[in-house]
Amino acid sequence: MVECHHDAVSVPSGRTPTGSLFDPLADAYAAARPSYPDHIFRDVERFLGRPLRGADVLDVGAGTGIATRLLIGRGARVVPVEPGPTMLARLRQRSPGLPAVRGDGEALPFRDQVVDLVCYAQAWHWVQVLTAAAEAARVLRPGGALAVWWNDVDAEEYRWWQCQQERLERMNPGYHRGYRARPFADELRWTGHFREVVTLTGRWRRRINIDDYLTWQRSKSYVAAIGDRLDDFLDAERRTMLRAFPDGVVVEPFRTLLVIAQVPE
Ligand SMILES: C[S@@+](CC[C@H](N)C(=O)[O-])C[C@H]1O[C@@H](n2cnc3c(N)ncnc32)[C@H](O)[C@@H]1O
Repeated sequence: MVECHHDAVSVPSGRTPTGSLFDPLADAYAAARPSYPDHIFRDVERFLGRPLRGADVLDVGAGTGIATRLLIGRGARVVPVEPGPTMLARLRQRSPGLPAVRGDGEALPFRDQVVDLVCYAQAWHWVQVLTAAAEAARVLRPGGALAVWWNDVDAEEYRWWQCQQERLERMNPGYHRGYRARPFADELRWTGHFREVVTLTGRWRRRINIDDYLTWQRSKSYVAAIGDRLDDFLDAERRTMLRAFPDGVVVEPFRTLLVIAQVPE
């Protein structure tokens, strides 16, 4: 059991459950969210058996457009789809001229069989699998694929991470570490829409200064759900992180989880 220096934190009642909307977080989100490593896109290309260049792609739950811009950088023709008006506005501000659409992954505003790839970057856990998988399969051309991926912090062995998770679980009872761990690939197989489903993982790390690190914490819906004790959480985080990284540069390890599901030819 890891020992953490707990600050005197009382847990308020009537907590907002984890899963609040991202719109109030758009600024923090745009400022400090981690990007996605190149190997995700290479794996998608390998699986599809074609380059992303020239592919028609929907980036669903596009947020501020982090994955959209990476996909465009690889030559894909991307339509970002996002239900949150503030997130969508930030995306349009950052990437003017894109055909960004306000929409929901459970009711995609597109005709049947019009794209080669449907992506969800860090967003698939927000949708109902059965409905969103049926929608993705409907808009995909024969042989096309749904690709869903996440960056998960890969720091279980570090004391700073254990302290952070304990703090989060105390201050937001709606949160528990591993909240996103689900059999994503099996869930997609069970829908019956896909001929093949694969899971691929990778590892990477980033260096980020302490202020940006705290902004990244604020951009998380389950951190925002702490509510009026948010500043206490961030102060305690700053102290913990500066004990682990006295020069103020956090080295944050990530594991990527990519699940790709292909519809029949
Ligand atoms: C963690 S953010 C990821 C944003 C972006 N894809 C990225 O990589 O930074 C999750 C996004 O999913 C969106 N979202 C939530 N429910 C959704 C739904 N039913 N359909 C589509 N997107 C949804 C949120 O508005 C938010 O922008």
